[in-house]
Amino acid sequence: MTSSASFQPWSLAGRVALVTGAASGIGRGSADLLAWAGADVVLVDVDETGLKETAADLAGHGGRTAEVAADVRSREQVDAAVRRAVDEFGRLDVVANVAGITLPAMRGRIVDTTEDDLDALIAVNVKGVFWGMQAAMRVMEGNGRGGSIVNITSTAIDTPLPGIGVYAMTKAAIVMLTRTGACEGGPAGIRVNAVAPGFVPTSMTAGHARQPDGTIDEEEMEAVNVEMARLSPLARVGTVDDVAQCVLYLASDAARFMTGQILRPNGGVSMPW
Ligand SMILES: NC(=O)c1ccc[n+]([C@@H]2O[C@H](COP(=O)([O-])OP(=O)(O)OC[C@H]3O[C@@H](n4cnc5c(N)ncnc54)[C@H](O)[C@@H]3O)[C@@H](O)[C@H]2O)c1
Repeated sequence: MTSSASFQPWSLAGRVALVTGAASGIGRGSADLLAWAGADVVLVDVDETGLKETAADLAGHGGRTAEVAADVRSREQVDAAVRRAVDEFGRLDVVANVAGITLPAMRGRIVDTTEDDLDALIAVNVKGVFWGMQAAMRVMEGNGRGGSIVNITSTAIDTPLPGIGVYAMTKAAIVMLTRTGACEGGPAGIRVNAVAPGFVPTSMTAGHARQPDGTIDEEEMEAVNVEMARLSPLARVGTVDDVAQCVLYLASDAARFMTGQILRPNGGVSMPW
C-alpha cells in the first residue's frame, strides 16, 4: 500500500549535503532538489556569481546554505570546503561531485588533442571527483553513520563518439572510482553511486554552438538539440531536473541498498534500438 510514509525515505530533513558545480546546470538543479527535500546545502564552485544565484534560488526552501568558492582541481580547496560543511552545519551526509568540463568537439579528436586539453579534462573531471570522494569518505568513515556520495559521469561511457574520446575516458574513470569507493566505503555505511546523464542543454552543451566571439549560435544549438532528441525513444533531450531526481534518489535512504551503481537518466539512448 502506498502512503505518505512511503515517501519519507526521500526526505533529507536534518541532513547536510555538499554539491560541487553548484553554480550552474545539473549542479544547481541538484542542489535545489536536495534543499527542497530538506537538506542544508553547501554550494561549491569556481563561479562566485553563479553560486550567489543558486543560493538565491534555494532561499525559498527553508534550509541553510553556504557558498564556497573552490576549485575542485585543488585537494586543499576541496578539503577546506568539506571542513566548512562540518564546521558550519555540524555533519556531512551527502556529497555530489558534479563539477565537470568538456572541450569543443572540433578540438576533441584523439589526433587533435593537445597535452594541455588532456591535462585540463583529467584535472577537473577525474582529480576533481577523486578529491571530493576522498574528503567525503574521510569524514563519513569516522562519523558512525556513513553517508552517500553521488558522482556525475555521462552517457559518453556507453557509446564511443568521435570528438569526445578524452571526455568519455575521464567519465569512464569515474565508473571504476565509484565502484571502488563503494567497496571501500561499504563497511562504514558509505554508499557510492554515479549518475550517467544523457544530453541535457546547459551552458556546457551550449559550447557546441559557441562562436569564436563567445556568443551562442541559437540556430546551431537548436539543431544539436533536435539531433540529440532523435537518438532517444522518448524523442526529447533531458532536463536538469531529470538528472537531479536521480541525484536525490541516490542521496536519500530510498536508495539505501544501492551502491556501486550507475543510474542512467538518458531517455534510452544507450540501448540498442
Ligand atoms: N549537460 C549534459 O548534457 C551532460 C551530460 C552528461 C554529463 N554531464 C556532466 O554533468 C556535470 C555538470 O555539467 P552541466 O551540463 O551542468 O555543465 P555546466 O557548465 O552548466 O556546469 C558545470 C559547473 O562546474 C563548474 N566547474 C567547472 N570547473 C570547475 C572547477 N575546476 N572547480 C569547481 N567548479 C568547476 C562550472 O563553473 C559550472 O558551474 C558535468 O560533470 C558534466 O560532465 C553533463
